[in-house]
Order: sequence, then structure tokens, then C-alpha cells
Amino acid sequence: MRLKNKVAVITGGNSGIGLGIAKEFKTEGALGTIVGRNLETLNNAETLLSPNFKSIQTDITKTEDLENIFKETQKEFGKLDILVVNAGGALGNGTLGSVVDTTEENYDRMIDLNLKSVFFTVQKALPYLNDGASIILVASIATKKAFEGLTVYSAAKAGVRSFARTFSRDLLDRAIRVNVLSPGTIETPLFKKLGLPDEVSEQAKEQFGKLIPVKRLGQPKDMGRVAVFLASDDSSFILGEDITADGGVVNL
Ligand SMILES: NC(=O)c1ccc[n+]([C@@H]2O[C@H](COP(=O)([O-])OP(=O)(O)OC[C@H]3O[C@@H](n4cnc5c(N)ncnc54)[C@H](OP(=O)(O)O)[C@@H]3O)[C@@H](O)[C@H]2O)c1
Repeated sequence: MRLKNKVAVITGGNSGIGLGIAKEFKTEGALGTIVGRNLETLNNAETLLSPNFKSIQTDITKTEDLENIFKETQKEFGKLDILVVNAGGALGNGTLGSVVDTTEENYDRMIDLNLKSVFFTVQKALPYLNDGASIILVASIATKKAFEGLTVYSAAKAGVRSFARTFSRDLLDRAIRVNVLSPGTIETPLFKKLGLPDEVSEQAKEQFGKLIPVKRLGQPKDMGRVAVFLASDDSSFILGEDITADGGVVNL
């Protein structure tokens, strides 16, 4: 149990990668809260993660609501050792776009969700985090390779990658380590957000899987294992780093 009695906040812990991280954290003995907007998936995840994790409904793009997450977590669990800033995503409401066709509104939406919210989630957590805490920021391999339609998203995630370095330096006096987990293509409910019929979506997954050197999509559990490493003392000498977990896409 590498995270026994550690208290964590995981944003987006009600779905996909965040839920995969929360499950692995529970297996390793962690407690804490998961954060999302959708009450149904929050309740389902809370049941699955019971009794270790409670859920808190918050829109992480509303900066004024962020502090409450950490206040509530401290009230319930007495401390905070680990913060996983995972909520975000590339899809939904016309957010895919190139430099040719992205509107200012969608640009702002992508940056608010995938960059600004990360900055303020960490800032609002700081008064509640223990010295020696571990912060994990979820970015993407889109920071290392160009993918069609992900122009602004990729820039936001590249900013997140930069935050791991600068935050680690900013927080050296408190021994708070900040690192990035960069997933490749992971099988999550994100695929549903493509709005494709189920059959076409399954075919798309199969096609994506074939393009990955290890010939399979990543699973949320794969991400959970990396997050456990970054959260635990096993990674105590690692700061401002970015771990790519993508089945070999970027490097092979
Ligand atoms: N899946 C991939 O292939 C992949 C690859 C690279 C990077 N990533 C990154 O991994 C992270 C998780 O993605 P996923 O694939 O697990 O997607 P997902 O299953 O769609 O989960 C996204 C999570 O973020 C939460 N979220 C989104 N907007 C939010 C908001 N405004 N306020 C609060 N919570 C919000 C969602 O909660 P609600 O549903 O309750 O809003 C959900 O829990 C994202 O940062 C994504 O960019 C994913």
C-alpha cells in the first residue's frame, strides 16, 4: 500500500482517466475526494470508490468555486497530501479546430478549461496542501506531436507541461513536487463525445489501437499506475518531469 492514509483530490475523478487514477489510489490505501460536474457519474464513482472517496460537484472553470473543494476535503479528511489536476478535454461543443477556423469563443473555452483552470486549481489548493505534497498535472502527447483539430488544446497542454517546471521551482521551499502525466490515446468515455454511432465509435477505437506501436489503446488503469508512482515517495527525486504513457506513439 504505497499511498496508505494519504489524502488526495482528483479532479475529473468521476470518469475515464481520473476514475482509473482514483481506483488505483484506493487500491494503494489513499482516501479523499473526486471532483466533477455530472451528478450521476459522481454518485456512481463514489459508490465504486466507497468508503475511501467522497465526491464534490464543482465546475473547475469557475475560479470562485475552487477553494471550497479543498476546504471540504480538509474538513472531511483533516489534511491534503496529493492533488491530481486531470479534469479537462479536447472535445465537445465545436472545440476541435485549426488556426484557420477556431473562433475566439472556442479559443477562450479551450484555454479556460485546459490551462487557466489548472493554474487556479493548484493556486487555491496551496494553503491546504502539506509541505512535501505531490501534484500531478494531466497533459497529453499533443504537447509533443501535432494532431489535426487539436491546435488550441495542444497549446493549453503545452502550458500545463511548463507549469510543472515553474510550479516545482516556485514551491521548492515547501518541497512540493509537481509533475506531468502525458497520456496517449486512452479508452475513456471521451470517445462518446465524438458523437458517433456506437458501431462507428468501436471501429474508430480499433483503428486508433492499430496505430499504436503496442497495438492496443491505453486503459485508465495504465494511467492510474503511473499516477501512483508520481504520487508516492518512489518518485521523491523527480520534479518538473513529464512522463509519457502512450504505448510508444511519440518515441517509436
Ligand atoms: N482519453 C485520452 O485519450 C486522453 C489523451 C490525452 C490526454 N487526456 C486528458 O486526460 C484528462 C481526462 O480525460 P478523459 O479521457 O478521462 O475524459 P473524460 O472521460 O471525458 O473525463 C473528463 C473528466 O473531466 C471532468 N471535467 C471536464 N470539464 C469539467 C469542468 N468544467 N468542471 C469539472 N470537471 C470537468 C469531467 O467531469 P464531468 O463529466 O462531470 O464534467 C470528467 O470527469 C483530460 O485532461 C484530457 O485532456 C485524455
